[in-house]
Amino acid sequence: MRRLVRETQLEPADFILPLFVCPGEGIRKPISSMPGNFQLSIDELVKECEGAHALGIGGIILFGIPDHKDEMASENYDDNGIVQRAIRAVKRAYPNLLVMTDVCNCEYTSHGHCGYVVGNDVDNDVTLDWLAKCAVTHARAGADIVAPSDMMDGRVGAIRTALDANGFQKIAICAYSAKFASGFYGPFREAAESTPTFGDRRTYQMDPANGREAMHEMQLDLEEGADMLMVKPAMPYLDLLRQARDRFDVPLSAYQVSGEYSMIMAAVEKGWLDYDRIMMETLTSIRRAGADFILTYFARDAAKLLG
Ligand code: PBG
Repeated sequence: MRRLVRETQLEPADFILPLFVCPGEGIRKPISSMPGNFQLSIDELVKECEGAHALGIGGIILFGIPDHKDEMASENYDDNGIVQRAIRAVKRAYPNLLVMTDVCNCEYTSHGHCGYVVGNDVDNDVTLDWLAKCAVTHARAGADIVAPSDMMDGRVGAIRTALDANGFQKIAICAYSAKFASGFYGPFREAAESTPTFGDRRTYQMDPANGREAMHEMQLDLEEGADMLMVKPAMPYLDLLRQARDRFDVPLSAYQVSGEYSMIMAAVEKGWLDYDRIMMETLTSIRRAGADFILTYFARDAAKLLG
């Protein structure tokens, strides 16, 4: 009877699995703060995708750890960059596996900020050009959805214009619209080697105190041409997912970020929380709050449990 009257359903297709790709071969380097996650070379990434594909998950999102970082984030918009090569390899092996890419500069800049730095701050408008070029290289490599996570103003419009001008009208934009300057990204920055060398991201990411502003950011991204919206992190911002669900009739996603994952894993390792229960309860709460799909490091295990 419980099953009959259940209001919120989860299925493997609701999950997007984040994966980290690095140069080299045969590399599967554990990320210590995110048990079960690895920096993968392209060959290992393709193996990982076999499992993800077989489980029927919604797709993957790729993050690159480049060989070379510089002030101009050059490898980020290089057709032979690490993510671009990874997309091609994954699409060659699994053409039907949905590939989403993160469009941001912080993994590629020598200082770890998400854009071009002038003085002690990021120059919003110079950064737009890099982001647009990056999105085009991802689309050319075969990405299905590009997801800008940089939080520069105007980036969705710039990316849409560039994609269309290059013949990629069908590539969708999932905007990280309500992305907060959060302490929960700590483990990811270890994984992606993208911790800023000075300052923080508060001049471009949002203040956790501001819910109305989050709705405004989403509205702007829709006006600029976003096809899907995102709230990030997920659990501390479920109220905003609900508000966005009630307000906007487009696909809505949530990113259950590294810190949300790692704190659960730490408690599980200590025997304080039950892995399967907590995993499913958190994912259910994010869906119940209004997310159509969830970017989560639990994607594989949750899909297995549902299968
Ligand atoms: C890039 C980016 C970040 C995350 C996704 N894309 C890090 C950041 O903004 O510092 C975080 C994801 C996670 O914590 O799992 N800007």
